[in-house]
Amino acid sequence: MTADHQLHHERILVTGGCGFIGSALVRRLVGADGRCVANIDKLTYAGDIANVAAIAAHKNYVFHQVDINDLAAVATVFEPFRPDGVIHLAAESHVDRSIDAPETFVRTNVLGTFNMLHAAHAYWRNLPAAEAARFRFLHVSTDEVYGTLGATGSFSEETPYRPNSPYSASKAASDHLARAWHATYGLPVIVTNCSNNYGPHQFPEKLIPTMIIAALEGADLPVYGAGENVRDWLFVEDHADALCCALSRGLPGETYNIGGRAERRNIDLVRDICALLDGALTDSPHRPHENLIRFVADRPGHDLRYAIDDTKMRTQLGWQPSRTLASGLQQTVAWYLENRDWWMRHRDQRYDGGRLGLNHLSHDRKDRRHAG
Ligand SMILES: NC(=O)c1ccc[n+]([C@@H]2O[C@H](COP(=O)([O-])OP(=O)(O)OC[C@H]3O[C@@H](n4cnc5c(N)ncnc54)[C@H](O)[C@@H]3O)[C@@H](O)[C@H]2O)c1
Repeated sequence: MTADHQLHHERILVTGGCGFIGSALVRRLVGADGRCVANIDKLTYAGDIANVAAIAAHKNYVFHQVDINDLAAVATVFEPFRPDGVIHLAAESHVDRSIDAPETFVRTNVLGTFNMLHAAHAYWRNLPAAEAARFRFLHVSTDEVYGTLGATGSFSEETPYRPNSPYSASKAASDHLARAWHATYGLPVIVTNCSNNYGPHQFPEKLIPTMIIAALEGADLPVYGAGENVRDWLFVEDHADALCCALSRGLPGETYNIGGRAERRNIDLVRDICALLDGALTDSPHRPHENLIRFVADRPGHDLRYAIDDTKMRTQLGWQPSRTLASGLQQTVAWYLENRDWWMRHRDQRYDGGRLGLNHLSHDRKDRRHAG
């Protein structure tokens, strides 16, 4: 473990464990932590069994290809596995796709979370007292539920919810369900709201892989609007560590904000990536990669700035990230350079790099790719 806390739980049911963050968590739980994990994942376009190849044959790991919208199927996983913790990550996660097809987001993120809470409650209320007291349901959410910030300030756990995209609205709804299952039924639920993650195995549609892959191909680097939007970046393994910390030390009914204290404007982040590629690919005909940057139509409803006040995680739970943005970004760029097969397979089979999320701006459809 990268932090000094001990993971108290032994048998953990993870949903969305074949996605970007879920797979980092599962690799860590089964590998470094030696825990038993049952992974529920539908394997949507964003889920990849290869993301957990490193631990797939481990005796402590079991995979269920199950849709969380299927309550009966979800319920059958609980009793035989007998988890003492659930970490719920399965979701539709891409803002631009939520603009084009919001129904899937409502179904999976809201109704799917309802199913997880319902199944967990049915299992938990029949546990012997000592096991019930130990059980936790960790609902993994986003800082996007708080809406947007201006040039100053940060989101605390007390910030009112003001989601602006179909994605963030669906996550906000799921957070409210999680909270209600604690208040009404006593289910020991913890909610975490985390800032933007980055790192290995992130699907090619998201900002950082989009830029790395386009630069390698010598294609335009499509920066939304003027590139002024600010995000607070956290390396995915630090998020996985924070989730383990929140599961072990968090108090039922509480919410914890998780962030990297690493704010960066999109345009600056893209320039950072270009500089890393310039350094790594000294023979590239596309150097300096910064010359590939193009400003494209902005995302509808694009939140200007997110920043996390993570004081509660740090002071009450003793967590802090282990990497700087500079070191994590270097590691991420290196991973995409070394794992071309991984992202080329996704580009060939699942996502061609085209612009998403301009549903109502048909005249802008000529813009290729996106920076979501
Ligand atoms: N990526 C971020 O920056 C970020 C930040 C904060 C919070 N989060 C939250 O963390 C979680 C994971 O995000 P991610 O970036 O790893 O997402 P992802 O899109 O990479 O992975 C999502 C996973 O969920 C699975 N899934 C989707 N619908 C499902 C369904 N109906 N049934 C079962 N499995 C299903 C997919 O197959 C995939 O493996 C999400 O809940 C997201 O809202 C993400």
